[in-house]
Amino acid sequence: MSQNVDHSNSEGEIDTVMVEQRLFPPADEFRAKSQFKSLEEYQQFYDAAVADPIAFWSAQAKEHLHWFEPFTQTLDWNCPNARWFLGGKTNASYNCLDANVDAGLGDKVAIVWEGEPGETRQITYRELQEEVSQFANVLKRLGIHAGDVVSIYMPMTPELAIAMLACARIGAVHSVIFAGFSAEAIADRNNDAGAKLQLTSDGLYRRGKVLPLKETVDQALSKSPTVENCVVLKRVGNETPMTAGRDHWWHELASQESRTCPAEQLDSESPLFILYTSGSTGKPKGIRHTTAGYNLYAKRTFQWVFDHQADDIYWCTADCGWITGHSYVVYGPLSAGATVLMYEGAPNYPAEDRFWEIVEKYRVTVLYTAPTAIRAFIKWGDEHVEKHDLSSLRLLGSVGEGINPQAWMWYHEKIGGGRCPIVDTWWQTETGGIMMSPLPGAIATKPGSCTKPLPGIVPKIVGEDGMEVHRGRGGMLCIDTPWPGMLRGIWGDEQRYQDQYWSKVPGMYLTGDNARQDSDGYYWIMGRIDDVINVSGHRLSTIEVESALVSHPAVAEAAVVGKPDEIKGQAIAAFVTLRGDASEELRKDLKLHVRKEIGALAQPDDIRFTSALPKTRSGKIMRRLLRDIASGKEQSGDTSTLEDYTVLAKLRDDEE
Ligand code: PRX
Repeated sequence: MSQNVDHSNSEGEIDTVMVEQRLFPPADEFRAKSQFKSLEEYQQFYDAAVADPIAFWSAQAKEHLHWFEPFTQTLDWNCPNARWFLGGKTNASYNCLDANVDAGLGDKVAIVWEGEPGETRQITYRELQEEVSQFANVLKRLGIHAGDVVSIYMPMTPELAIAMLACARIGAVHSVIFAGFSAEAIADRNNDAGAKLQLTSDGLYRRGKVLPLKETVDQALSKSPTVENCVVLKRVGNETPMTAGRDHWWHELASQESRTCPAEQLDSESPLFILYTSGSTGKPKGIRHTTAGYNLYAKRTFQWVFDHQADDIYWCTADCGWITGHSYVVYGPLSAGATVLMYEGAPNYPAEDRFWEIVEKYRVTVLYTAPTAIRAFIKWGDEHVEKHDLSSLRLLGSVGEGINPQAWMWYHEKIGGGRCPIVDTWWQTETGGIMMSPLPGAIATKPGSCTKPLPGIVPKIVGEDGMEVHRGRGGMLCIDTPWPGMLRGIWGDEQRYQDQYWSKVPGMYLTGDNARQDSDGYYWIMGRIDDVINVSGHRLSTIEVESALVSHPAVAEAAVVGKPDEIKGQAIAAFVTLRGDASEELRKDLKLHVRKEIGALAQPDDIRFTSALPKTRSGKIMRRLLRDIASGKEQSGDTSTLEDYTVLAKLRDDEE
């Protein structure tokens, strides 16, 4: 990093204070086997898609999905409403299962699963097809039809994927709710979606303890009047209350059904799932995705970004409760005939080396995880990594937040042994699949940059006036043309869809993130629009200041926010977790370090040491809450997605 403050500022543009100079081209050995072998190849493919997106996506869909009936129109675009592959009939469960079995992959392992206590299962594509069909028959027996909503609150077991695919098989719409949410959150989502059926388990294992999921579900169902039945998977075997007439054991129902169930021939635009994501305030939004476009986009982006090879053991550590689990545990990799590893439990149980033990045991080749996990591994210490042979890994991925260059370098060196490319994938629940990422054989990486858009994706960076900003300056990241994986709306609230994503910059999809493009055309995500800090008229992005802090060897994690300042408008407050002990000297040292790394303007006025940062259950730092603490305000807005409530109390106690 070096100093680079451009002090001229036009309307709504964001200053950049960080320049990352390091460049990592893919190794020749990696490049030789990969699908895209050079920047030129990528560029040709990308340019062809931009020149004629209809021809591009039409060809992709014809070649990469199974069609019971061919589509007759590729796209009907009436901004903001997109309909893809009209007239066609397909089925996502068929594309994930039957298509692979028919192609000769019936005996290939589809899912390798490890439970937290250590048991393991391997399920072939044929077995998965049978399990899914059997459970699809259970759904039908319970009166579930195409278009009905099924609420799923389950641990990361193969049955979670089976449940999703069984819904897809008969055209039911799944709504997966992460199995850490409260009864209240489940009930809210069930009521919003009008869910008819609840799927859950007796419990799950987390850090060696049993969490009784069914008890939470019972509370939720007492407030979910639309739910008629509840199917319970026996996972842990604990004492579980069952309500007669409503509750049924999974294994009892399944054992009575046939293991054959033909996949429904569904319209391309029939709804596949709803996935709730927290807006920064207010009620959660049910993001609506449909069948063909989503399925195609998840499959192709999986193949491109993870450079899928037939013998890969691919591990995405995300839970199916998040979009990453939908697109890159289930629909993407299974459509591509991949072998997917699923792990049920915590990364630090029974010890901090669990992930590395798993990588070594199953010879994982591709690992896709989140910056919050990477920062935890760094904090836990290298000894846990060094105990294990990670030589099977060939590619690493990151998703969910920006990855600070320092954490990127650690991931590259300690986990990737310096030989594995890192795909920093930028996308959202709303986008359905990865939008920007290196294609690892073609695009040299820069630590902290998601590099280039994928084929068919046209990003634009605009200022408050809706005009594109100058190259190098930050602004709002928008997407200019529709893509097959895009959300189709917000469940039951089309006005909110229009207002939130399509109103501020007419004709373009507003992502809610800021970004800039560097002189090589690489994109750098600068954080959420709402998190920008305005110091003396200079709009700064959170991630750049955080990255400067994290580049200090004493720092494990950092979050910065603006707080009111009479002179500067806003001053920077930093919340920092340390690898070792705190001291006054270190506080001074950190301020100087930031000043040296990125300049005086970005020097925090206030540094607070804390043992943990408030995060969402998917691991994102909740800067909104820190903003309130930094400015001494009472908490406002929704805190229901906060992972650990005690963190807030601790932060308040830490206040000077
Ligand atoms: O702010 C961006 C951040 O996560 C947001 C999307 O969150 P969600 O819908 O929960 O989906 C997470 C999994 C795709 C984005 O608007 N984000 C996600 N990936 C990155 C990122 N920020 C920077 N770099 C990324 N690679």
